[in-house]
Amino acid sequence: MGVLQNKTALVTGGTSGIGLAAARRLAEEGAHVFVTGRSQQRLDEAVAQIGLGATGVVSDVSNFADIDVVVEAIEAHGHELDVVFTNAGGGEFALISDVTVEHYLDTFNRNVGGTLFTVQKVLPLLNRGASIVLAGSTAPSKGMPAFGIYAASKAAVRSLGRTMAAELVDRGIRVNVLVPGPVETPGLTGLAPAGGESELLAEMAASVPMKRVGHVDEIASAVAFLASDASSFMTGSELFVDGGEVQV
Ligand SMILES: NC(=O)c1ccc[n+]([C@@H]2O[C@H](COP(=O)([O-])OP(=O)(O)OC[C@H]3O[C@@H](n4cnc5c(N)ncnc54)[C@H](OP(=O)(O)O)[C@@H]3O)[C@@H](O)[C@H]2O)c1
Repeated sequence: MGVLQNKTALVTGGTSGIGLAAARRLAEEGAHVFVTGRSQQRLDEAVAQIGLGATGVVSDVSNFADIDVVVEAIEAHGHELDVVFTNAGGGEFALISDVTVEHYLDTFNRNVGGTLFTVQKVLPLLNRGASIVLAGSTAPSKGMPAFGIYAASKAAVRSLGRTMAAELVDRGIRVNVLVPGPVETPGLTGLAPAGGESELLAEMAASVPMKRVGHVDEIASAVAFLASDASSFMTGSELFVDGGEVQV
């Protein structure tokens, strides 16, 4: 028996990388999983991989009105929510000297607005005892050239996690921020110039005391931990799964 039997979970950005691995793991633990993404075709492929009755919903987190579609789909299936993983997000490299208004707005809309309005809109669906997991980053703990706007957006996510935890504690809802170190995903390797993926991964691995990048299943395990009662005395917290990147 999995630890999430009879529970319902929402994973935003569940078609690839960390979100897909987390959705798979939550489903294996017994949850009915709703996943979102921007393309029906990628969602169909993800749902086929997750199996176990997962449901895909096309929704772009940076288009805040689109998040209503997710809420309607969950309600239409007769579900309430026990687990929410606001994973959809990411960023691109830009030195402060090169940041454009478009880069700034795209990064903040995806990571901050997407997180904020997903949580806000699912509030009426959340059961007592629900767990919300926000996707953070090690970037705000360092000064990484060209990652300034992404880092600032993830610092905002970390801060929102504290406020959400405080506001939801009386409903018995926990909110924690999961902080992956570098993890091999299409999102991470997509930051490299064509053909430079291995070099980027090697560079990332060198910055980690464990001298490797993480595997998506290592992050999915931590999502399952935060989603379940195994973490019942944690809220407002930040869980680093980073090979020691910003710890050692
Ligand atoms: N990989 C790492 O090293 C790392 C480290 C720290 C934190 N993180 C964080 O972990 C999360 C996942 O990263 P990843 O590396 O797994 O990325 P990924 O492989 O690029 O996957 C991103 C997922 O989010 C979805 N997505 C992107 N923008 C979206 C939007 N506007 N609306 C809805 N869905 C959207 C994508 O789906 P579609 O493209 O199909 O829409 C995809 O399913 C992000 O928040 C990232 O910042 C990653």
